[in-house]
Amino acid sequence: MEFSIKSTSPGQMKSGCAVVGVFESRKLSAAAAALDRLAKGYLSTIVQRGDMDGKPGTTLLLHNVPRAACERVLLVGLGSAAEFGEKRYREAIAAAIKTLNATGAAEASLHLTELAAVKRDIKWRVAHAVAVAREVAYRFDNMKSKPEGAQPALRRLTLGASDKSALRRATAGLEQGLAVAHGVSLAKDLGNLPPNVCTPTYLAEQARELARRYRMKVTVLEREDMEKLGMGALLSVARGSAQPPKLIVLEHRGGAKSQKPVALVGKGITFDTGGISLKPAPEMDEMKFDMCGAASVLGTLKAAGEMRLAMNVVGIIPTTENMPGGRATKPGDIVTTLSGQTVEILNTDAEGRLILCDALTYAERFEPAAVVDIATLTGACVIALGHVASGLFANDDALGRELLAAGDTAHDRAWHMPLWDDYQELLKSNFADFANIGGRPAGSVTAACFLARFTKKFKWAHLDIAGTAWKSGKDKGATGRPVPLLTQFLLNRAGRGK
Ligand code: BES
Ligand code: MN
Ligand code: ZN
Repeated sequence: MEFSIKSTSPGQMKSGCAVVGVFESRKLSAAAAALDRLAKGYLSTIVQRGDMDGKPGTTLLLHNVPRAACERVLLVGLGSAAEFGEKRYREAIAAAIKTLNATGAAEASLHLTELAAVKRDIKWRVAHAVAVAREVAYRFDNMKSKPEGAQPALRRLTLGASDKSALRRATAGLEQGLAVAHGVSLAKDLGNLPPNVCTPTYLAEQARELARRYRMKVTVLEREDMEKLGMGALLSVARGSAQPPKLIVLEHRGGAKSQKPVALVGKGITFDTGGISLKPAPEMDEMKFDMCGAASVLGTLKAAGEMRLAMNVVGIIPTTENMPGGRATKPGDIVTTLSGQTVEILNTDAEGRLILCDALTYAERFEPAAVVDIATLTGACVIALGHVASGLFANDDALGRELLAAGDTAHDRAWHMPLWDDYQELLKSNFADFANIGGRPAGSVTAACFLARFTKKFKWAHLDIAGTAWKSGKDKGATGRPVPLLTQFLLNRAGRGK
């Protein structure tokens, strides 16, 4: 879908369909009222008759609206004007795009972006309209032998800006919205690919492709490199797998040479069977999504590349399968991590922290300004926060707040969880420095506490995306989260967030 911006009132613009909003209690939005005046009360008559009551999620398609230059008009219910906000705005856009896709209109002008009632400015409104439109249009049919269903006719979407002065900000919103949408789309595609295609080698190839396209630097460490460095924890997870593990480093150098980079570290388990601590069979297929942290790092770097973000960002992706087998790590095995600390592996299914700890130690060499790791780390986080918020842990409060704020702006929210030392004793081991699990209580906290033992040398935050990276059930698929949060975080740091 192609997007553009215009500041013309609806009805005066030639288009396949003009989309305008109607609030509950028969109140037309400003754009709808303008169209109504042009059509000499045609819209208000329809609203008065009760054919469109403005309830959220409802739509009404009209043809041949008098004196309007557009072929169709789509009325979209916005709910009560007093309660209208970000969530309703995004839902209204989604309802509009879904209805448009069911019409024959090849292009449309969306005037919902002019709704000041959102209490966010035009840049935000445009960026989110683009993100939601792309979200609704997303399909993953690469693996079907032939495409399913008819392709939607909608090709071009013009977003309304109320006046000329808003055009510059709206254009910035369009640029950022598209970059985020493309990053999300890449993260979704990688997550949705089957685990026999999306292997560590495939992820490395994708990183190389991004490096070529956006002139980034890419380095891929192979098993022998990791052996030389002493990444005993990462290697212990890879032991059962026939696929070679990789440590991918992708560097976007958009800032000054002297500027310390932000490092993004993504868990890249391309399939998590649990290893010798084997997972139960039901829904095990969903463990192909265990590389969504890695996918979000690649997606965010794509967005950074596309926006030519003027700052330095390093993506670090430890990636392997977690498989059982004759050579696989056993419960009770003790390994030496890159940091020199020893770990007793009491459960081979707690593998994410084992690959992340070595990648986090490796991050030290970039002298990062901040490190954020992103991981589908614990089932316990899903129990704590469900599928709405990602779990946020941080050893630096300011960094934690920055990420929370970015999540709010991007509508890709996180919730701050505790990382107090009081929880550390749960990781006690009788035989090694500490164990890789802490038992059932506070499972997502003890996982974060494990990582905290490897991040003392820098400002660090951890996002547990186990509940937010994908959906189960009939809408099974990757969400692309937290690419919007991470991109907003980088934009804010680069001074382009406002
Ligand atoms: N990848 C899983 C976490 C996960 C499980 C995410 C289910 C989403 C849904 C992780 O590697 C894992 O298996 N964690 C274990 C840790 C436990 C053994 C301490 C878990 O959460 O059960
Ligand atoms: Mn696991
Ligand atoms: Zn896992």
